[in-house]
Amino acid sequence: MDLKNKIFTGHALEILKEIPDCSVNMCITSPPYWCLRDYNTNPAKWNDGWEGELGAEPNFEQYINHLCDIFDEVKRVLKDDGSCWVNIGDTYGGSCLGITSGGKVKGKTSFLPDNLDYLPRVAHARGKHSKSLLLIPFRFAVEMMNRGWTVRNVIIWHKPNATPASVKDRFTVDFEYLFFFTKKKKYYFEQQFEPIKDSTIRRCKTGCGINKGANYCGLKKENFEKVQQKILDGTIKGRNKRTVWQISTKGYKGTHFATYPQDLIDTPIKACCPEGGIVLDPFIGSGTTAVVAEKLKRNWLGIELNPEYTQLAEERINAKS
Ligand SMILES: C[S@@+](CC[C@H](N)C(=O)[O-])C[C@H]1O[C@@H](n2cnc3c(N)ncnc32)[C@H](O)[C@@H]1O
Repeated sequence: MDLKNKIFTGHALEILKEIPDCSVNMCITSPPYWCLRDYNTNPAKWNDGWEGELGAEPNFEQYINHLCDIFDEVKRVLKDDGSCWVNIGDTYGGSCLGITSGGKVKGKTSFLPDNLDYLPRVAHARGKHSKSLLLIPFRFAVEMMNRGWTVRNVIIWHKPNATPASVKDRFTVDFEYLFFFTKKKKYYFEQQFEPIKDSTIRRCKTGCGINKGANYCGLKKENFEKVQQKILDGTIKGRNKRTVWQISTKGYKGTHFATYPQDLIDTPIKACCPEGGIVLDPFIGSGTTAVVAEKLKRNWLGIELNPEYTQLAEERINAKS
């Protein structure tokens, strides 16, 4: 099976089963969030009897299990030094996105059509924790740990251009999570840097405020002196990259929605996949992962359930946009 630079159309769980063990370097993806959108994909049959799409389960426990069943397969196909990055958002209980507890759709909703028999259950499940964040990203991360993954970082993706909310009794949410999991404790990782603050450079150059007290910018004196020398020589690459990343959302002109920005996945790919390696995205949507992987001289492998999105992604990848 040639795994390079192809999108397989089908259910992620089924397609992943066809991929040999230890064959990809990293996975980066954004799965459908629970109860948020209808991707108009064909219902699939799960082992627990659920015949519906991922993200439209009657409760979030079932959604997390389905998701983690897919990531069990991702773990199998990852090389032993591989890692897995997952962008996943949260949901407030009770809002039901215009679905009443009787299962009727009130007005315009981006979610499910109203002729599905599980709709009342979905509405009910969301109603259970009315007004509360459901903490789905963390429930998911805990289940991933239970299934053997190591959680190395939680990245906060801060969106400076987040959509304003009309709420007045809480704050407007302007971030999402990006989880960094590894298969084993030792893994491929190319350190990534960010610019050193001007104030630190100034202090290093002048020595001002450094030598009087025990404050060596949080470093031991001897390490500080090494860093200071590199700053003075101009040979330092920067400081180790931090975990809050400020990246604006960017609309994509194609018909797919819920794309992630190219800048969000650039750093993880550089850090966790060597040049010439393979980046897997089991929910590739409009193909953002493939576009960035190609720009960074990595191979990629995508899976997408909806054939229309596969076609859209292929056109986008060919256009390198
Ligand atoms: C949040 S979108 C991914 C967007 C992508 N990161 C991008 O930038 O375009 C999730 C995608 O997963 C697809 N999907 C939903 N259920 C799936 C399944 N069981 N297997 C594979 N793909 C699935 C949806 O059709 C949708 O395109």
